[in-house]
Amino acid sequence: MKKILFTLSAMTFLIIGSNCGQSTDKKSAGISQTADTIQPKTPLERGKEMALKTKAELGRYLMSAIREKGAAGAVEFCSTRAIRITDSMSTIMGSRLKRVAEYNRNPANNASMEELAYIQKVKTALEAKESPKPQLTETPDGITAYYPILTESLCLQCHGDKKTEIAPATLARINRLYPNDKATGFELNELRGIWVVEMKK
Ligand code: HEC
Repeated sequence: MKKILFTLSAMTFLIIGSNCGQSTDKKSAGISQTADTIQPKTPLERGKEMALKTKAELGRYLMSAIREKGAAGAVEFCSTRAIRITDSMSTIMGSRLKRVAEYNRNPANNASMEELAYIQKVKTALEAKESPKPQLTETPDGITAYYPILTESLCLQCHGDKKTEIAPATLARINRLYPNDKATGFELNELRGIWVVEMKK
């Protein structure tokens, strides 16, 4: 897989990082709260807010798992809880959320043809050093929104270079749980996957 390193720090606030977790994007959360009282949110804003809330929830649990059990122990946590947390956030918020990737760890998170087309658009934008944009698609049943998920330094201990960034104990745990893992070798600010948010109209 071709790896490209970008340090487009100005762009990162536009992008929704995700993981099996990290901290809340306070800036966006603030904007959304203000928008609540002034004007109705657009579907793109609603979807972003739901993705950010879910990201924050995953991040909260991931950080405490790393603190308590180290990265290797947190792999176990991600494998049993990441999808469950995302699903319960979907139930709470009344929309369907998931994270999918081209180079996935869990095959259940495989991207569809349509999702892959969006992933390709994001990669092209990143290669041209442009900020990738989210995308909305209307379907007969609702609205689907896509948002890019870029890597941050925290992610590399489980998604970075197998020799230099992932500790041997962590790698052993990953290999045992995911014999067909495709989600290593990522660099900072690289596209790791996307959020898919399916909303009602
Ligand atoms: C402690 C190890 C660990 C860390 C740190 C970590 N992840 Fe993961 N990540 C995993 C595991 C394990 C899975 C598979 C979860 C599952 O089975 O549902 C995963 C899955 C994902 C997925 C879903 C797609 C797939 O490949 O299955 C995305 C997207 C993702 N991680 C992004 C990130 C990002 C972005 C960060 C940093 C902000 C991050 N991860 C940090 C271990 C980690």
